[in-house]
Amino acid sequence: MLKPTTTKQVADIVRLAAYHEIGIVPQGGNTSYCGGATPDASGRQIVVSLERMDRIREIDPVSMSISVDAGVILKNVQDAAAAAGLLFPLSLGAEGSCRIGGNIGTNAGGLSVVRYGMTRDLLLGIEAVLSDGTVVSDMRKLRKNNTGYDVKQCFVGSEGTLGIVTGAVLRLAPLPTRRATAWLKLARGAPLAELLALIRRESADLLTTFEFMAARSIALATDAMTDRPSLGAGSADAVLVEFASSSRHLDLDELMEAVLTEAIEAGWIEDALLAQSGSQRTAMWRLRETIPEGEKRRNGSVKHDISVPLSSIQRFLDLAGSQVRSYDADLELSVYGHVGDGNLHYNMLIPPDVDRLEFTRRIEGSLSLQLYDTAASLGGTFSAEHGVGRFKKHLLERYGDVGRIAAMRRIKTAFDPADIMNAGAIVRPLGEKSVS
Ligand code: FAD
Ligand code: MLT
Ligand code: ZN
Repeated sequence: MLKPTTTKQVADIVRLAAYHEIGIVPQGGNTSYCGGATPDASGRQIVVSLERMDRIREIDPVSMSISVDAGVILKNVQDAAAAAGLLFPLSLGAEGSCRIGGNIGTNAGGLSVVRYGMTRDLLLGIEAVLSDGTVVSDMRKLRKNNTGYDVKQCFVGSEGTLGIVTGAVLRLAPLPTRRATAWLKLARGAPLAELLALIRRESADLLTTFEFMAARSIALATDAMTDRPSLGAGSADAVLVEFASSSRHLDLDELMEAVLTEAIEAGWIEDALLAQSGSQRTAMWRLRETIPEGEKRRNGSVKHDISVPLSSIQRFLDLAGSQVRSYDADLELSVYGHVGDGNLHYNMLIPPDVDRLEFTRRIEGSLSLQLYDTAASLGGTFSAEHGVGRFKKHLLERYGDVGRIAAMRRIKTAFDPADIMNAGAIVRPLGEKSVS
């Protein structure tokens, strides 16, 4: 593993690796789920970690942008923006360890996409090293720049297969000074898409979060916490909603109460708990963010990061539920996620007494495909925000549009004809033998 400290060092490493036909796997915080940051077993790949490139280069409060090295930890970007009275809105459970280059590599989504978009929507400029050592230096903070291909966007979601991102200019937003956070216990059969539409509309789109959690997922998180919040855990499916505003002229609690009253009258919510203090808000968030840890403690889960159009979310839940039941009525699910974005983590809990690897292989070879088929038939995808990496390449081949894959392979060929950059992830270039 090499740990460069400057863009020039990254370029030198890439040139040397290209000359010796050694593959490179860029790495940020190594928190991604699809094996994109892990070298293969060939022994012909080196990891280039950006962890020492962790400088905040500039904050421009007027242009509302921040320029950073690609190795800066996401939380440090958020903190630096907040210190300047601004918000960097990308937020996810791994924010204390994932790094901006990795967020760009995976086009990370997370907990505020419904308002602010994914990483792609937050990227204004980029610096990156191509597979021959050429440096793309486009660290501009422009909102408008129609001067040909938007090269920076090629790197978003490319999972290290097109080059190494060394710097980024990111879009900031006004820092919310007010938040209203509520834990909604859903009535049985509550229509999620309609509830979301009501809340978005009546909150004047001040909604920043709409996170769904099935009762089982809430119970798993609660079991994993030492100081368990009393939010009626385990008894009903729930949604965590948050409004945020930078205006001092809006009373968000009043707005939230009015909106939720409508939802209660519609019969969609059984009970709503509005956070009365910062610590109550934090407790609600911790419960949501502890779900992956709760699954891990229970022997882990087979993860399915699906998304479907919002109009089909209920249909997916119905169809997938019956697929799981007819596969094995004893299987337990943990279903939660960013329903505001049509994204569900539809996870199968691994029973405590079974071999994890064997169970995972069996499910992924059978039931997972049925679930992905269902998502695909509804116009959805097998990977909403976690990427393709090495583990989901076969799914890209199975579900990806032929023309789109052909276009991806041509882009890969144009950027990296010798397949130096993260060979084995996502796609191969056209007709080339991998160096690994
Ligand atoms: P890594 O794992 O190091 O790398 C990811 C990919 O990007 C790899 O293919 C790698 O080669 C490439 N890469 C890394 N750095 C660079 C670079 N500088 N240049 C080019 N390519 C690079 N993801 C979400 O989208 N939403 C969530 O809500 C979410 N929640 C999570 C919660 C937990 C508890 C955990 C463990 C993970 C979660 N993730 C989530 C997944 C993960 O955190 C994200 O995918 C994150 O963006 C990965 O960042 P990283 O720095 O760890 O990247
Ligand atoms: C989340 O939303 O918590 C993650 O994307 C899912 C996970 O960590 O498994
Ligand atoms: Zn997620």
